[in-house]
Amino acid sequence: MGADTDDLDRALLFFDVPDDDLAALRYADEQARLDASLAAWVAGTAAELRAAMGEPSPPPSLAPRPATDPDVAAYLPVLALAAALPDTLAWSRSRGIPADVEAASMRDVGRMLRRNRQWEGEPGLGDELARWLTRHLTGAIHEIGRLQYERVRLGTWTGTQLAAAGLPVGPADLALSLHIPQTGTPLSPGPVDESFAAARRFFRRRFPDASLTHVVCDSWLLDPQLAGYLAADSNLVSFQRRFTLIPPTTDDADSSIRKFVFADTTSPSDALPQRTTLERAVVRHLQQGGAWQVRTGWLDLRRA
Ligand SMILES: CC(C)(COP(=O)(O)OP(=O)(O)OC[C@H]1O[C@@H](n2cnc3c(N)ncnc32)[C@H](O)[C@@H]1OP(=O)(O)O)[C@@H](O)C(=O)NCCC(=O)NCCS
Repeated sequence: MGADTDDLDRALLFFDVPDDDLAALRYADEQARLDASLAAWVAGTAAELRAAMGEPSPPPSLAPRPATDPDVAAYLPVLALAAALPDTLAWSRSRGIPADVEAASMRDVGRMLRRNRQWEGEPGLGDELARWLTRHLTGAIHEIGRLQYERVRLGTWTGTQLAAAGLPVGPADLALSLHIPQTGTPLSPGPVDESFAAARRFFRRRFPDASLTHVVCDSWLLDPQLAGYLAADSNLVSFQRRFTLIPPTTDDADSSIRKFVFADTTSPSDALPQRTTLERAVVRHLQQGGAWQVRTGWLDLRRA
């Protein structure tokens, strides 16, 4: 079943859905009530999220959306997230997760609806951003102050590299994957320190059974080449210094940095804006034949 109207209203508030999306979302909800295949997709997706409640990532994958009006299909994931929300909130209360952490975590849905318009030029949620948000509804990710923490299994590459670095962990172990939400505020060291301190307390109290002491971060932000362009005391370079890097894999990282800096992966580099030091650095590096990297780093939350 999808959310009833009151639950949907409540979810839209929790998710901080932008005003621009409200009418189209309500229309999609009406259509999902009239069409059995849409209702089944929403109910089935919500049921999968409930079944994975409290599990670390990866969350369940989303079934392909039913063929329908694209304006309706675009919002079906939000309806499924809304239908699962009461169960997420109940689970969260049962773990003693503070209401402000839960509320902050859920506001990422609205942020992703804004990002979808920015990145894809489309309303609603594409598959990439819809999949990202399933983590929030299964309770795998929490926003604590400035940063988001996702309970994950390390997996083969990172687990093996951390073990090789002498850490007492391996591929099957749990860790916290760190994310930096685009909040419109800088990544100043103070809020990062505060977030780490709060996360230490949060995971020790709320997930005492799991030994969540290591933080890993996969990001364009950790590309050490950035330090060649940005000031040593910039927020980005200061943030990098907190991490120990593991060897890179061979992702197409130009597209990652271009998404997060320009929301544009296709324009020729000389057409990209050049307003900030970072924008100028990204373009200069590409024009000099360089390539950007997504790098993985780790830190020990007990010493961060
Ligand atoms: C992470 C983030 C908050 C850092 O911003 P910050 O705290 O301003 O970083 P710094 O102070 O070190 O910035 C150094 C320079 O780069 C610029 N800059 C930083 N991030 C930028 C961005 N995303 N786009 C354009 N310019 C950016 C700053 O304006 C500054 O340039 P200036 O001195 O000419 O003004 C910002 O990049 C951001 O919001 N990113 C989106 C979220 C993201 O990328 N998350 C990681 C996903 S893997």
